Amino acid sequence: MNDLMSFGLHRYWKNEFVNLIDIKTGDSILDLASGSGDLLKLLDHRSDCNFIGYDSSERMLKQAKKKIKKKNIKFVKGMAENLPFKSDSFDVIIVSFGLRNFYDIKKSLREIKRVLKKGRKFYCLEFSHINSFLFRKLFYAYSKIIPVYGKILLNNSEAYDYLIDSIKKFPNQVELTQKLIDSGFKNIEVIDILDGLAAIHISET
Ligand SMILES: C[S@@+](CC[C@H](N)C(=O)[O-])C[C@H]1O[C@@H](n2cnc3c(N)ncnc32)[C@H](O)[C@@H]1O
Repeated sequence: MNDLMSFGLHRYWKNEFVNLIDIKTGDSILDLASGSGDLLKLLDHRSDCNFIGYDSSERMLKQAKKKIKKKNIKFVKGMAENLPFKSDSFDVIIVSFGLRNFYDIKKSLREIKRVLKKGRKFYCLEFSHINSFLFRKLFYAYSKIIPVYGKILLNNSEAYDYLIDSIKKFPNQVELTQKLIDSGFKNIEVIDILDGLAAIHISET
């Protein structure tokens, strides 16, 4: 789905995203909504850190476990809205293409803030709001075709309808920044990708 929506570019974006993350030796890193482990795979050369891949889906965790077999990378199943970790547990928290799917973003952000150590950073990569009117119109025209692909390729147009709907409903760059502030984050940096088709929000506790 990410391939279709980002024209395959999400792989390149994830690479760029990972390169932005400030990781220090000994850091504990939480990859929230880790899915099949794309980000952890890009980070698995960091044997000097400890990682947790956390996701609500057993099937996604299974895929990730098949792909990544490192002693310093563990997998935990659970919901972002109720993190089973003590306060101030992590040095870095990352989430890519996950936040949009959480049923309660406000609660999840509060949980992220709680388990992140003071003065450390939360990095979020997500689809966002395209700035240019023309590109936005073009993208939404293109997105109407995607459920048709879904029907033809996987006999499932609903999942693709959901994807487009979730992108449209997701807070734009300014609204997400406000949600982060309301959850207690500060020094928020926003980096637009492809004119805002996706955006990275970096925020500090
Ligand atoms: C589009 S995938 C992204 C996976 C991965 N981060 C990536 O970039 O490839 C979204 C993931 O969010 C997980 N997810 C959805 N709702 C969640 C929730 N409330 N708590 C934890 N994980 C959730 C799904 O199971 C899925 O693996």
